[in-house]
Amino acid sequence: MLYDPGKEYLVEARLLPLAREAGCADVDAYVVKLQTDFGERAKVLDALTINETSWFRDNAPYQTFTDVMLPAMIAARAHVRHISIWSAACSSGQEAYSLAMLLDQHLPSGWTAQILATDVSPKMLARVDAGRYSQVEMNRGLPATSLVKYFTRTGSEWEVSDDLKKMVRTQPLNLSTPFPLLPTFDIVFIRNVLIYFDMEMKREILRKVHQVISPDGFMLLGSSETTLDLENHWGREAHGRVQIHRPAGYTPTSAVLQPASLNTTAMTGA
Ligand SMILES: C[S@@+](CC[C@H](N)C(=O)[O-])C[C@H]1O[C@@H](n2cnc3c(N)ncnc32)[C@H](O)[C@@H]1O
Repeated sequence: MLYDPGKEYLVEARLLPLAREAGCADVDAYVVKLQTDFGERAKVLDALTINETSWFRDNAPYQTFTDVMLPAMIAARAHVRHISIWSAACSSGQEAYSLAMLLDQHLPSGWTAQILATDVSPKMLARVDAGRYSQVEMNRGLPATSLVKYFTRTGSEWEVSDDLKKMVRTQPLNLSTPFPLLPTFDIVFIRNVLIYFDMEMKREILRKVHQVISPDGFMLLGSSETTLDLENHWGREAHGRVQIHRPAGYTPTSAVLQPASLNTTAMTGA
């Protein structure tokens, strides 16, 4: 993970409390300890990662999920009636559960879906499993109708329904190291995480995602992220303001993929 030059103070400020807790005099001594102490390394990952997220973040990508990606996948997966989604770098799970709500509303009956939610931070994955959110977190992008439908109040928090929890499975996964064995995904949301890596690592991560996405699958990045200038394994389709990435060479055959109203322009990989 890259921190911009000048942000050393931020790293220091986040590591000093951990160093003190571990009985080290300062951050330098703590860094030496980290070379052999794997338990402490997990704490550092939690302290240094930026977990900013919200429900239906940026809205438009989720609209595109409902209007474009899901209808295309429902047409393409009629033989298995199952859709497999990966929420990579899921933070506290709002992305995975936002997708689960849309699947609950739009998947035809008799279909199943599985969302794999992964993150490098064990603390974040524990939060996804718990499915509990503070009032402040609930206020960030969750429609009132969804709150009523999918959450119950537990003390000062809100807990997501068991039905949505059943759709979401968690697994620790560091995007910057070799991937473990993964299933093939129909749709990958890997949003607002590539910004933390240098160009070479971004390329490497996109190459690895390419290996686990189905040839007709969809990948969605954050609004400020693109595969342009990075990779020629990916083609891009613009749906309004949203760029959808698909494995290069894939040719849409179904009318569902490019409804005229969506002003879709398919492009081949750069
Ligand atoms: C800004 S949040 C984005 C959350 C969500 N995808 C969204 O768009 O709202 C970035 C997440 O990336 C995770 N992360 C950072 N480095 C990672 C890595 N090397 N591998 C996997 N996840 C990582 C952080 O723990 C954090 O939860």
